Amino acid sequence: MEIMDIHGGKTLAGSVTVGGAKNSTVALIPASILSHTKVVFDSVPQIKDVENLRAILGDMNVPSTIDESVLTIDPSNIKQVPLTSGKIQSLRASYYFMGALLSRFGEAVVSFPGGDDIGPRPIDQHIRGFQALGATVHFENDSIHIKAPDTGLVGTMIKFDFISVGATINMILASVLAHGQTTIENAAREPEIIDLATFLNNMGARIRGAGTSQIKIEGVESLSSKNSHTIIPDRIEAGTYIIIAAAIGNGIWIKNVIPEHLDLFLGKLEEMGVNMQIGEDSVYVYPTERLVNVEIKTSPFPGFATDLQQPISSLMFLGEGQGVIHDTIYPKRVRHIPELCKMGAKIWKHENEIRILKSDHLQGTDVTADEIRAGASLMITGLIAPGETRIHDAGNILRGYDRVVHKLRSLGAEVRIIDEQ
Ligand code: EPU
Repeated sequence: MEIMDIHGGKTLAGSVTVGGAKNSTVALIPASILSHTKVVFDSVPQIKDVENLRAILGDMNVPSTIDESVLTIDPSNIKQVPLTSGKIQSLRASYYFMGALLSRFGEAVVSFPGGDDIGPRPIDQHIRGFQALGATVHFENDSIHIKAPDTGLVGTMIKFDFISVGATINMILASVLAHGQTTIENAAREPEIIDLATFLNNMGARIRGAGTSQIKIEGVESLSSKNSHTIIPDRIEAGTYIIIAAAIGNGIWIKNVIPEHLDLFLGKLEEMGVNMQIGEDSVYVYPTERLVNVEIKTSPFPGFATDLQQPISSLMFLGEGQGVIHDTIYPKRVRHIPELCKMGAKIWKHENEIRILKSDHLQGTDVTADEIRAGASLMITGLIAPGETRIHDAGNILRGYDRVVHKLRSLGAEVRIIDEQ
């Protein structure tokens, strides 16, 4: 168990480079098992989720090596095994092995996924999709058994009841090698889905429409990777550093950003009074003079990302007026609230909304990060607040933020990780 120890209240300056997107990476690694040749990913974030996914690959006799941000995976001698080890439960995205194994072997046995506790996270849409492609699904001993007919999966029309990133990705993975055409209606449009489709298309897949709400997949015989794939920048990590820069920066460059991925977020920051220079692949945040709080409603891409609702609440502790956040995707993503209150923050839940007021008496103290973005908001608040903040269960932050301690220190923050005895 790790503790993140922060001595806050300092002004930060300099530049920081954003790593590859966590939520792309955690789909790309399971997708790599569809290749018959070695796969190379560039710009891989150094996060615990990657270590855990590599351990799962190891269980399937798929060796991998990592050299800084270059990950090489060799799935040429893959073995079909049930994925029921503890590592599967360490992250939500392990459910992408369901779609990938089903494609590669016509069968998948995978434990129920774990991951962040941000309220109920059912996978009914994934299961409905697998069944629509002709697979049978049954549950046994905490695992899901999915099996294609002996003649293989058959492309079909899959219309989701609502937008789901995970179900869209799992359907792409399951249908790339199916017979005929699959059409996904009401598909999620997140940039990470485009990234996955680009990777698969470069291996020979035929996926059109990724990034729109209708995706068409023409099944192909087999897939082989030829070139390395550079993972897109992490828009949530970028957003987190932009918030830090707006809160306590004395001029910070955030590099390796695709501003189009953060459109609504950047618009909200401007509305709050944050002064930025938005370049082609970077954002410069000027020191902030006065902030005003705003209302935010999260929604699927291109809307305001749920993954930034907790981080931006920390910026609202510095703004005039009442901030209101309505997380329509994960209304129960509120476990950061009592922890922030321990630090003197004025934040509370009111029906389906989170309300926030300027908090002039923030003070470092002992808090616990229950999940990744709750952890991010505690980290930001710890950097703002004077005194010492000790974030317990900081592994939840390290799970998803690339070399976060190194990056914060390079901006002048006093932060370190210590092992909890
Ligand atoms: N949902 C269902 N049934 C399903 C699938 C989803 O009811 O079968 C519901 C969910 O409970 C949620 C909504 O639909 O209310 C949207 O969920 P979605 O499936 O889009 O989320 P996800 O794929 O499980 C990914 C990211 C999350 C991010 C969400 C929303 C990964 C590995 N995770 O989760 O990232 O919050 O999309 O954008 O890509 C994070 O990085 O902090 C994180 C939690």
